[in-house]
Amino acid sequence: MTDATHRDFLAIPDFSRAELLALFDLAERMRRGEYRKTPLGGKTLAMIFMKASTRTRVSFEVGTYQLGGHALFLSPRDVQLGRGEPIADTARVLSRYVDGIMIRTFAHQDVEELARYASVPVINGLTDMLHPCQILADLLTVRQHLGGFEGKTVAWIGDGNNMANSWINAAYRFGFDLRIACPEGYEPADHLLERARKEANIVLTRDPKEAIQGADVVNTDVWASMGQEGEQKKRERDFAGYTVDRGMMARASNDAIFLHCLPAHRGEEVTADVIDGPQSRVWDEAENRLHIQKAIMAVLMGGETLT
Ligand code: CP
Ligand code: NVA
Repeated sequence: MTDATHRDFLAIPDFSRAELLALFDLAERMRRGEYRKTPLGGKTLAMIFMKASTRTRVSFEVGTYQLGGHALFLSPRDVQLGRGEPIADTARVLSRYVDGIMIRTFAHQDVEELARYASVPVINGLTDMLHPCQILADLLTVRQHLGGFEGKTVAWIGDGNNMANSWINAAYRFGFDLRIACPEGYEPADHLLERARKEANIVLTRDPKEAIQGADVVNTDVWASMGQEGEQKKRERDFAGYTVDRGMMARASNDAIFLHCLPAHRGEEVTADVIDGPQSRVWDEAENRLHIQKAIMAVLMGGETLT
């Protein structure tokens, strides 16, 4: 099945600010159970996972089903991509069978190449560079609990990884204040930072306490992401002092919420009393993956419009 006018979702700025706001409204209707359409009836999403996943896999598969469609789980063990079939060939072949492709992989360029050769929408389910679906779910969670994110301050404590880079892209689109604390050598992508700084106030610091002071949203992630497991010990040393604990949370705004994309390592980047404590919204955050991704699929694959 081919569609010459399709659009992809590889990064948050692929949608305009107005479109993103409409996407949140649609996801919110889905969250409240007010959206009952099945725009993916008769349609199939191929899900390529070159890395492990719990939330992304389940929320995309369940979301497709709830919208009336069907999802295919493709791991490198099962498909020829894992044996070296070119991405471009995989993209062209899958486009003849399915109506959308979600991919989680390592190099961001691989997703861009897939999108270049696919004639159906491609959705980024995480690369080493970006995790856009997650940050949209995080923003939906901020909206749900703080009434909106404009005028709010978001603190990112930890690695300048795919999550941090996507927060930077979100700040670029929405202009909220973003404070990033990361150790030397673990900074987010320069080119994203440079672009976002034209639209938003972004502070980069080595001091987590400075970043978290008065923040409305406190967000962290594992110190070693998928593919970096061999650096775990070195990273534990390099990230000493970056644990989000109760003392750290006490510096944030009184009604600050704590977010974590999960999976979490309790006792490393966050203490159990914070992630399992009263300010944590991580379960709503995980649930919101389902709603925002359904909204994305309804728009990209199901003809739903963003107004
Ligand atoms: N947060 C997230 O993407 O989780 P998974 O790795 O389980 O998909
Ligand atoms: N930064 C983490 C996010 C996992 C959802 C990783 O890439 O492993």
